[in-house]
Amino acid sequence: MEKFIIRGSGTLSGKIHVNGSKNAALPILAACLLTDEDSVLHSIPALSDCLAMKSILENFGAQVFRSSLKNSLVIKTNNLKFSQVPYELTSAIRASFLVMGPILARFKQAKLMMPGGCNIGQRPIDLHLKGFAALGAKIDVSHGQITASAKKLVGDKIYLDFPSVGATENIMMAAVLASGVTIIENSATEPEIVDLANFLNAMGANVRGAGTNTIKITGVERLHGANYTIIPDRIEAGTLMAAVAARGGEIFLEGVAAEHLKPVIAKLREMNVEVSEAATGLTVKSSGFRTLASTEIKTMPHPGFPTDLQAPFTSALALANGNSTVCETVFENRFMHVPELLKMGANIKIASRTALIEGVKRLSGARVSATDLRAGAALVIAAICADGPSEIENIHHIDRGYYKLEERLSSLGVVIERVGSEAGMVEVG
Ligand code: UD1
Repeated sequence: MEKFIIRGSGTLSGKIHVNGSKNAALPILAACLLTDEDSVLHSIPALSDCLAMKSILENFGAQVFRSSLKNSLVIKTNNLKFSQVPYELTSAIRASFLVMGPILARFKQAKLMMPGGCNIGQRPIDLHLKGFAALGAKIDVSHGQITASAKKLVGDKIYLDFPSVGATENIMMAAVLASGVTIIENSATEPEIVDLANFLNAMGANVRGAGTNTIKITGVERLHGANYTIIPDRIEAGTLMAAVAARGGEIFLEGVAAEHLKPVIAKLREMNVEVSEAATGLTVKSSGFRTLASTEIKTMPHPGFPTDLQAPFTSALALANGNSTVCETVFENRFMHVPELLKMGANIKIASRTALIEGVKRLSGARVSATDLRAGAALVIAAICADGPSEIENIHHIDRGYYKLEERLSSLGVVIERVGSEAGMVEVG
């Protein structure tokens, strides 16, 4: 098992080019199954989750090659065949379920096991299934297996009880080849939804309204391959912003889109962190925890504060001056970093879905464990700010969403090393 040893840091400085978005890349990879022509995708982050999705596509007969360009993949889908996705692949990532929509659209049937992924709540898939059923699919769930079949998918009006990102994406992908018009009401509006819609439209689909809470999809007969560049990862960028906010320093995040990070930039400014926007990226400047102001955060679907940045910001606020509150409204079990932060000297109490944080002057290095992806990132931030070395175990969770985080942080001045076997690291592009 690999772990990070972090021996603290001075203030952070340097420039980082933000990687392509994991959460945009995963559905877009799945969407390649909607055509039998080649697609070329650029800025695919070299993360284990993307490697798992590559294996899922290969399971359906797709061939996935690296192109000559860094982080670019060619996906050949001219020989797709219907198959069931093995349990080992569906249990590896939650986003495995995103192939259900494309497979149903292509083969009029789909068979998958219940998806795995970060253990941050129950994470049901009822809204995905409700959408498929509205399009005319017959759904059966038994023994942890989901089967869907339809003679024909036909567009309909679907109201989502919650603006689920995954359900919106899955239904969009099922609907692009359905006959007639599908309207998804109360759809998610995340930038990753817009990216998927742009990719689908580049393939010849007719998707309108992505980024608003009503998406209209007019089905087309067939889709063709597309050449497409994934958006930058707003969560990777936001995590590095939280690190600079807490430890202090000045970094330039190249390539990141400020409009994807509006709620995060607003919170950072409330916390006394300077964020300046340029055409090529964002500069983040902070005097660190000595001047960091406390604040109140409530996670919400986009354009609210992203739940994926709740844990990293909880770490930063653990060192702010005064009392902060962080309310998690999206997932019911997303405070698993808090007991680990307590080991490092944080003063945080959980009351239902709210973390009540009393800022402390310093954290102390400790041996802690990453319980999920973003919780792991939160511990890295805490360790960077702590007195004395920290050891972070179970970093395979962190590798799911941050490519070679230790190299990125070292380039900013953090003293961090990965110890243990190299087996967890992957190269997909
Ligand atoms: C995606 C992101 C994840 C992010 C989340 C919310 C990917 C690969 N992952 O996850 O990083 O934290 O959006 O921004 O893009 N829900 C239901 N029924 C459903 C589906 C969801 O009740 O059928 C609930 C979930 O349990 C959760 C909430 O809706 O409480 C949000 O989930 P959702 O937006 O679907 O998140 P994911 O797509 O799983």
